[in-house]
Amino acid sequence: MDYDVKDLGLAEDGKKRIEWAEKDMPVLGLIKERFANEKPLKDVKLAACLHVTSETANLMRTLKAGGADVVLCASNPLSTQDDVAASLVKDYGIPVFAIKGEDETTYYNHIKAALDHRPKITMDDGADLVSVLHTERADELADVIGGTEETTTGVIRLKSMAEQGVLKYPIVAVNDAQTKHFFDNRYGTGQSTIDGILRATNVLLAGKTFVISGYGWCGRGVAMRARGMGANVIITEIDPLKALEAVMDGFRVLPSIEAAMVADVWVTVSGDLHVIDERHFKVMKNGAIICNSGHFNVEINIPALEQMAISHKPVRPFVEEYLMDGGRRIYLLADGRLVNLAAAEGHPASVMDMSFANQSLSAEYMLANAERLENKVYGVPGEIDSSIARLKLDSMGIKIDQLTQEQDKYLHSWEMGT
Ligand code: ADE
Repeated sequence: MDYDVKDLGLAEDGKKRIEWAEKDMPVLGLIKERFANEKPLKDVKLAACLHVTSETANLMRTLKAGGADVVLCASNPLSTQDDVAASLVKDYGIPVFAIKGEDETTYYNHIKAALDHRPKITMDDGADLVSVLHTERADELADVIGGTEETTTGVIRLKSMAEQGVLKYPIVAVNDAQTKHFFDNRYGTGQSTIDGILRATNVLLAGKTFVISGYGWCGRGVAMRARGMGANVIITEIDPLKALEAVMDGFRVLPSIEAAMVADVWVTVSGDLHVIDERHFKVMKNGAIICNSGHFNVEINIPALEQMAISHKPVRPFVEEYLMDGGRRIYLLADGRLVNLAAAEGHPASVMDMSFANQSLSAEYMLANAERLENKVYGVPGEIDSSIARLKLDSMGIKIDQLTQEQDKYLHSWEMGT
C-alpha cells in the first residue's frame, strides 16, 4: 500500500484518539453498522481530501465498512493529526497522504497521489481536489460520477465552476445541510476557534476587545463563545443583513479600520481575501493578536505584513511575532491558516458526527443517483437531513412531540382563520 505519513510509530496514540472520538459519534456509528451489513459502496473507489483528524478517521472507517476502496489526503497543510494519519495506515489499512506542516508542493503532491487512486467519487473540503482534477488531471474526469463538498468556501468555488459551465460532474453540498452548518459551522467553529487561540496564546479573554470579521454561521458561533468568555465583541461585515443581525444580537458593528484600532484579538471568518490588510496593520495596537478560522490562509494579507515588519520571529508554537515601526508588535497565529485545526484539534467529535453522517449518506446517495443528476451543485436531500437530526436526538436521549392528526390537517389547510 502506498502512503505518506510522518511516522508510523505514532499509530498507537492515533488509535486511542480515533476510539475516543468514536464514542461521541453515535450517528456515524449507526451508519457504519448498516454500511457493514449492506455494503452500499462495495468496491467504489473514493478519494477524500479532508482535514486528517480523529473524526475524519471515523468517517473513513465508515466508508470502508460500506465496501468503499478509500484513500485520504489532507485538505490543509497544517491540519493533519500525524498520529491519526499513522493509525489509519497501520491499524485500518487506509492509505493516507498527509503530514502536518507539509509545504505547498507536498500538499499538492498528496492530492495528486489521492487522484492516482482513480476515484469514482470525490469527497472534498475546500474543493482543492476537484480543482486539481479539473485542471492538471482533466484526463481522469471520465472515471468520476460525482462528489461531495464539506465546507462553505468549497461550495462557493464549486457553484462558480457550475455557473461557468466547467464543472464536469454533480456534487452534493454537504455544507448546505442544516444538520451540518447549524451545528458544525456555528458551535464547532465557535468552540474550536476559541480553543485554538487559547492553546496558542493562553491569553485571558475576559475584558479583551475581540474583533470578528464575518457574521456567517462561523462568525456567529465565534462571537457567541467569545462573549461567553467575557470579551467585548465587535463584528465587521460587508453584508447589511448580517451586520443588522449582529447589531440585534447585541454586538457592536464597526468598519474594519475602526475595529483595527481597538482590537486585542482579531479573528477572520469571512471566506474572503485580505480582510486584514496593510491599512489595518498600520493602525493596530501593540500586542494585537490576529488569526483566521476561514478555510484558506488568504484572509490576512501576510505578504504585506512581512513587507511592513522590521523583523519577525516565532515566540511560541503557532505564534509569530512581527516587530513593526515604532516598536509595536503584532502576533500572527498559525501562519494565518485555520487556527482551530492548526493550534487545536478542530471541531469536537459530537458535531462532526452530524457532518460526517451527511458525508456518508451523501456518498451513498450520489452513487445511487449520479446518473440522473446534472453537472451542478445539489443540496443534501431533506430526508437525509431530518433523519440525521432524529438520530442525533435519539442518541442524546431527547424525545420530542409528534403532530396530532388534527394539527397535521390544520397545517395542510387554509380554510380556518380567526
Ligand atoms: N473541520 C473542522 N473540524 C474538523 C474535524 N475535527 N475533523 C475534520 N474536519 C474538521
